[in-house]
Formats: sequence, structure tokens, C-alpha cells
Amino acid sequence: MKVLIVGKGGREHVLAWKTAQSPLVKEIFIAPGNIGMTEGSLVDINDDDVQGLAEFAEKEKIDLTIVGPESSLALGIVDEFEKRNLKIFGPNKLAAQIESSKDFAKKMMKKYDIPTSEFQSFDDKKEAIDYLNTRTIPIVIKEDGLRAGKGVTVAFTKKEALEALEQIFSIPNKVVIEEYLEGFEFSLIAIVHEDIIIPLEVAQDHKRVFDNDEGPNTGGMGVYSPVDKIDQSIVQDTIDQIMKPMLIGMKAEGMPFKGFLFAGVMLTNQGVKTIEFNARFGDPEAEGILPRMKTDLIEVILNILDNKTTLLTWDDRYTVAVVMASENYPQSSTIGAPIKIPNDLDALLFHMGTKMENGVLQSNGGRVLSVVSYGTTLEEAKQKAYDNVKQIKSEKLFYRNDIGSKMCDNSK
Ligand code: AMP
Ligand code: GLY
Repeated sequence: MKVLIVGKGGREHVLAWKTAQSPLVKEIFIAPGNIGMTEGSLVDINDDDVQGLAEFAEKEKIDLTIVGPESSLALGIVDEFEKRNLKIFGPNKLAAQIESSKDFAKKMMKKYDIPTSEFQSFDDKKEAIDYLNTRTIPIVIKEDGLRAGKGVTVAFTKKEALEALEQIFSIPNKVVIEEYLEGFEFSLIAIVHEDIIIPLEVAQDHKRVFDNDEGPNTGGMGVYSPVDKIDQSIVQDTIDQIMKPMLIGMKAEGMPFKGFLFAGVMLTNQGVKTIEFNARFGDPEAEGILPRMKTDLIEVILNILDNKTTLLTWDDRYTVAVVMASENYPQSSTIGAPIKIPNDLDALLFHMGTKMENGVLQSNGGRVLSVVSYGTTLEEAKQKAYDNVKQIKSEKLFYRNDIGSKMCDNSK
């Protein structure tokens, strides 16, 4: 069969790499992809060109399309493909609101009794500030809409919170102000179709840009998987208390979900609480999780689209994925910096944002490469990942040094 993968980052690269291992797949196309994605043919159609992609899929007789980025989902790529009877894995535009509107997601959590932090949403600055004045610090300020992980301020002073509000309301906007949760953060991603939930293994992302969880939030600077602290009972609580009720709610609201459902979860003293939902696989979670999955991903997706579940098997080893990012990320990103990668790199390498110019590999975005190693212990995976990261030479890339050793836990 022919598979089309939509997107151009590290998540799409690992999706292509995993798809290439399926005996069911004859040909892979990636639109637009990046130069590192040698597993398939790159198609020069951007991931926001929903019509163009649907026309391509029709013309090429693509059997299955897998959508990487939330932006394509929010634009209604699934609606357009389904209108044309093209098979596609991802939520439609309405269901993708679970991520594209923090306000929608929070209201759904309230309505369906899903544990999360207390919150209020505002589209008026004065009302937002009045509310802030009644709350305790720390507090979390979230801009509504898709912000690639960067629209969230965890404010430890009133001043920071006010600055975040000023910044958000510099244009007409919507904001969610929510209670700060203390605990151990993890990502649970499931392959979902209406009420069928196939949970993947847990990963922990490192969201802050600098070592020791300092600096602003990013899309994610690295992950490890599995996460020993999150045992089967906690995974089950997350499914029962967070994922199931949300999926029941989505169906009841006339927007049943299918695709990768991503729950960002805080394990608090009172149990699991939802930080956020995403309507797609995480990046770099995908780079940590999919290399551990032994089952054929394409078979799982085809089965679930056919309302059948699949038992997954996993590599017991740990993975550590370290993201190499452009200097100044997440504020801005220098692009066009040359990168030298040795031929004998002993790790999986997923390209998040690269290009080739005059035969030279260059950076082409905020997050540039994801280097993934296995180990029988977390320590070994980490050691190997960093040994390989150090072989990659570029003056303009940086990375965190503590992926896999700093456990993202903000509890005192
Ligand atoms: P989000 O984009 O909602 O996942 O937020 C980005 C990051 O900010 C999360 O991964 C958390 O580390 C942090 N964060 C978001 N909401 C909260 C909260 N209510 N309490 C504590 N930390 C949070
Ligand atoms: N790494 C977090 C995300 O993909 O949103």
C-alpha cells in the first residue's frame, strides 16, 4: 500500500521510519518532509495546503494518510480527505479543538468531570487582571490557540503573570488562567478511535529550554521512555479518569475523536490531573516512544480504523532522545547554520528542521535534530545519546545536558 505522511518535523521523520518497517507498505510519501527523511519520497506540498494534499492523495491513490502536525488538523485536513473518501488517521476539525482551543478543552474537562487544575478564561484584559488579583502565586497563564508549546507562562511572581497578560492582550485575544499544579509530569499518548483506546508506553518530556528546568517553555527539548515512576496503575488511572471520559464527552458532543490522543498529565498528591490534551503525537515524544514499539504501526492504525484493537509489544530497553536546537530557540531561530554529522553515528537520528544547500546540511528551524539511543538502563541510554550528540558538529546548535537525569518534578 501507499502511505502519505503529512508534516516536516522529527515526529514525522520517526513516523516515516516506523512506517518503512511495515511489510504492508510499498511506498511512502512525505509532504513536505525534510531532507533527512530518506524513508520516503518528499512531496513539495506544504502541510497547511489541505486542498493540495487531498488532490495529491487522490491522484497518487494513497491508501492511508497519517497527519503529524496540529495545524493541519485544525485546518480541517481530515474533513477534506474524508469528503473525498480518502482514508486518513487524525481527528477532524471539530475534534481537533481539544488542542486548538485551550478554552474548549478546559470546558470539556469541567463538563465531563475530568481532573484538571481550576481555571477561568477571559477575553478582556481588565477582567483577567481582576481575577489574577484574587489568586495565589505561582499561577499559569495560557494563551488560547495553537502556540507550539510556547504560549504558556508559569508565573512565580505577580509581575511575571501581569507581563504575560500584557503580552497576550497586546492583540485581541483569549486567555486561560489556571491553578499551578505540583507533581511529576508525564505524557501518555494513545491510538484512539471513538471509544477504542490503545495506550502507548509513557514518556517524559523536558519542556524548559535549559538544564535543570530553567528558562522558557519550548515544544520539548528531549524525552526518555519508559518512565519507571509511572506504573501500570497510574496509566490505568489516566485512561479511566482522563482519556475515557474525554472520549465519551467528545462523542456525546457530536465530535468523536480518532487519531493520536495525547494527554499531558501531572501526577499530584491527589492523583492524576490533566495539564493539556493534544490532538496528535508529541514531538519529541514520538522519537522516544516509536523506536520502542515492536508492533507494526500501520497494522495498528488500519485495525483501529476498522474498529479492531491490537495488542502491542514493546522493546524493554530505555530510549533517550536529545533535541539539538538552534541558538536563541524558542525566542527565534538562526537558520542556515552548517551541521556535520559523522557517517558512523551509533544512534537513531531524526531530522526536525534541516535543509541541504550547496551540498551542505544546514539548520532550518528552532528544533533541528533528535538523537535517540537505546540502553538496558536509563543511564546507559543517556550516556549513548550524549556520546552521539557530541559527535555532531555545529557552532549554532545547543542541547540540554540532563535529558533522562532531571526528572520533571516540580513538587517540593
Ligand atoms: P501546555 O502547553 O499546556 O502543555 O504547557 C506547557 C508546560 O507548562 C507543561 O508541560 C507544564 O510543564 C507547564 N504547565 C502547564 N500548565 C501547568 C499547570 N497548571 N501547573 C504547572 N505547570 C503547568
Ligand atoms: N512535546 C510536547 C508536545 O508535542 O506538545
